[in-house]
Amino acid sequence: MERKERKRLVVGNWKMQLSHKAELETIGAIKNLLKNVALDVEVVVCPSFPSLAGVAEAVKKSTKLAVGAQNIHWEEKGAWTGSVSVLQIKPFAQWCIVGHSEQRALTGESDEEVQVKVSTLLKYGLTPVVCVGETAQERASEQTTARVSEQTKTILNKMTRVSLSKLVITYEPIWAISANQPDELPDPNNIAGTMLLIRKLAADRFGVEAAERLRILYGGSVTPDNVASFVFEPGVDGVLVGGASVHPGQFVNIIKQLQGGGSQA
Ligand code: 13P
Repeated sequence: MERKERKRLVVGNWKMQLSHKAELETIGAIKNLLKNVALDVEVVVCPSFPSLAGVAEAVKKSTKLAVGAQNIHWEEKGAWTGSVSVLQIKPFAQWCIVGHSEQRALTGESDEEVQVKVSTLLKYGLTPVVCVGETAQERASEQTTARVSEQTKTILNKMTRVSLSKLVITYEPIWAISANQPDELPDPNNIAGTMLLIRKLAADRFGVEAAERLRILYGGSVTPDNVASFVFEPGVDGVLVGGASVHPGQFVNIIKQLQGGGSQA
């Protein structure tokens, strides 16, 4: 499969940045800015849980925008005060981020728990956007390959060849997230290398053809100014955007820069 056959994807992770009112205004503004754009990029926005229904309603008739949640519990239901399950997000969301480093740090969730969340989402027909990536410390001790391999293999071990095309993996070096105030950003060549590693792990398990169907994103301090340096590397299928995604002008600018596909194999 050629790179251009994998549709480019931009996912906006609004985290806990906006009020409910601001989330509804933000989706309205994004919709408006995309009104006259013939999009060939898939776009997903991930609001907070309380705004999922409102944002889903706002994009109900849109063919350009889809909704994702930012996390789920690994169980489908039960006595888990304060948690939200796949069944509860399913009426509103077709996508869901899991294994984000901010959740991993908050709850201490393991790679195995992240894998169960991926399986739960796939079981109910939602697309998981699963995050992998190394800490600053792991990077400093040259553990990036080992850590990303470990996280990726844990996910892939429970997948089937068919479900691979429904999975999105985001390589998001934790140290590069804007909230962690990075001194520098990853070298695009290193990002491309890690993407190749992830795709090779998928190929080792399911064969080259199946691995070519997997979409892999980059996440970490993506802005309109730097997105082009990341997304036109081989094997990069799009971006997971945090800070810039709550600014409609910046978010749509990023989307527009992914338009036209790129020609990398
Ligand atoms: P920033 O784009 O703000 O660095 O956030 C990245 C991120 O964590 C997306 O999930």
